[in-house]
Amino acid sequence: MKSMLQHILGRKTALICSTMALFFATVIAVVPTAYADDKAASADEITVLFRAARTVISKNQGLINEQGTGKILTADYVVGEAKSNFKKSSGHDLDLANDPLGAKAAMLSAVAKVMDNAQPLINDPDKGFKGFLPAIFARLVATSFGKETGGKMKIKLTAPKKYVRNRGNRPDSWESNVIDTMFSASGYEKGKPFFENADIKGKPAFRYILPEYYGESCLGCHGGPAGEKDITGGKKEGGKLGELGGAISLAIFD
Ligand code: HEC
Repeated sequence: MKSMLQHILGRKTALICSTMALFFATVIAVVPTAYADDKAASADEITVLFRAARTVISKNQGLINEQGTGKILTADYVVGEAKSNFKKSSGHDLDLANDPLGAKAAMLSAVAKVMDNAQPLINDPDKGFKGFLPAIFARLVATSFGKETGGKMKIKLTAPKKYVRNRGNRPDSWESNVIDTMFSASGYEKGKPFFENADIKGKPAFRYILPEYYGESCLGCHGGPAGEKDITGGKKEGGKLGELGGAISLAIFD
């Protein structure tokens, strides 16, 4: 039996129409992952920049842990290296002229403030290991970033519940749900962020979360055997190479 549409328009037109409908349906379905949305595009850049800054700290961990003064790790140096790491991961320069939410500037300013405050510690001539680690740096930057944005945005380093070391980094129910049901699922594409509009502590927000995996350099502290003490005096989690070990979670309030 001919459909109503075919009756009205004739076969060929109906075929074109349904092909177009299919095309539009596909485009609509693809829009969120194609990051047409301003917020998703900004969230991509902010989380990559946050990670790029943390990498500067991981790469210089040896230097930080040395006893000595006059280290190169000034605010300017770390900001410069973070920008260069950002370019390496994203394939393009950090464009501060195009910063609709003011978030990239806020992130750089947060990094600079944390590094300024950390100078006496990093350059303490009497201390070797100082506990100034990538995750600690990330937590300080996250706090400062929240202030820099006037509370309009919130970034956080969290982890699957079983691997959380600092209770302050525990995932909330939205984060935990994404980590457990999506990121941990066997078929989930590695490294793919998830985002949607969802409340955070009762406030409506755009929420974005990016999975992270344990690399070789993480296992000295987060690897096995579980329960053994690491260099920080904390207990190792028993994590494995390539395993989902954390997530960067960003909220942009409405
Ligand atoms: C020198 C030891 C050390 C190394 C190496 C290390 N971490 Fe951590 N990590 C810690 C400590 C200590 C904390 C808790 C920080 C805090 O108090 O916020 C932590 C916290 C975290 C958190 C936040 C959630 C939580 O458990 O509190 C994540 C995610 C994380 N680490 C992932 C990684 C990844 C991924 C790597 C490798 C790229 C890595 N860590 C390397 C010691 C380490």
